[in-house]
Amino acid sequence: MTVAVTGAAGYIGSHVAHLLAEAGIHVLAVDDMSAGLGSRIEQFPLVEIDLARDEAPGVLRAAFAQHQVRAVVHLAARKAVGESVEQPMRYYSQNVTGLANVLTAMQQSGVDRFVFSSSAATYGMPDVDLVSEDQRCEPINPYGETKLVGEWLVRAATRSSDLRAVSLRYFNVAGTGRPELADTVVANLVPILLQRAAEGVPAAVFGDDYPTPDGTCVRDYVHVADLAEAHVRALTYLERDDRPHDVFNVGSGTGASVMDVVEALSRALGQEVATVVEPRRAGDPPRLVASVERISSVLGWHATRDLDEICRSAVEAARAR
Ligand code: WQD
Repeated sequence: MTVAVTGAAGYIGSHVAHLLAEAGIHVLAVDDMSAGLGSRIEQFPLVEIDLARDEAPGVLRAAFAQHQVRAVVHLAARKAVGESVEQPMRYYSQNVTGLANVLTAMQQSGVDRFVFSSSAATYGMPDVDLVSEDQRCEPINPYGETKLVGEWLVRAATRSSDLRAVSLRYFNVAGTGRPELADTVVANLVPILLQRAAEGVPAAVFGDDYPTPDGTCVRDYVHVADLAEAHVRALTYLERDDRPHDVFNVGSGTGASVMDVVEALSRALGQEVATVVEPRRAGDPPRLVASVERISSVLGWHATRDLDEICRSAVEAARAR
């Protein structure tokens, strides 16, 4: 069977594509190559297309038929929070229209298994210790809005057709499963810390006066190789007839502060990562940690790699470059 992976040339998408291939599943890569790297997907056939364009459903229909696609894992999206505030129309077009086009093509082709890449950004600023999937979603930026609207669209499609789907809400994804698939975009905490350390300049810690144990923000860091495995579990789950849930958090279930990450990365590097405290960043929740009860009991998935392993793998990949 073939699974189409949109966004396959990206950091997370390529981990998913390679894991599926290791499991003996054929992969059809779909990517606009605007941010992805060809080197990550050399072994897969590629449909190069901007999914938000009008012709996308027709192009996908032909590709699904040619490659006998049975399921789609949809990761292709814009994901920079700050940029989404500046360019909301672009984000809605890429993330929502792109999704609608994929679902249209699936419906027209009779492809009825779908895994959607959603985000903890759908929650906004929840004031709870562990966020469960039943928490009210109140995203605070257009990026998070597009992911929540995406979940609604996916759910509506499951009600209006034979589509079977799950949405996976990713928490803070980091690390690498193999050096050649590493995150090359310096936008999130771990890559930023690594880059600053390499440049020999202190990294910014955005606020140390939060109501957390060490005053810095707490997040749930999940290894990208664990996250990729959650997609494979989700695809298997969609084969079952008794599917009680359609949304799952994907996190480790444990919180780590910015300073915890700095310390773990310092250990992995074998040298102190210098930091300087800067003012709080707008829109940062003090704490965002997943409840992983549902994904563990329903999909039988839990993270197996801890923060030290995340940092070690990121360091190893940076040294291999
Ligand atoms: C992590 C922590 C910062 C940079 C984002 C998106 C979210 C999801 C994951 C996709 C925060 C602190 C950061 C720095 C710092 N994306 N920090 N200095 O904001 O938790 O989540 O990525 O779905 O939607 O919002 O991730 O890596 O930017 O920050 O102190 O130079 O590190 O304040 O507490 P974030 P992040």
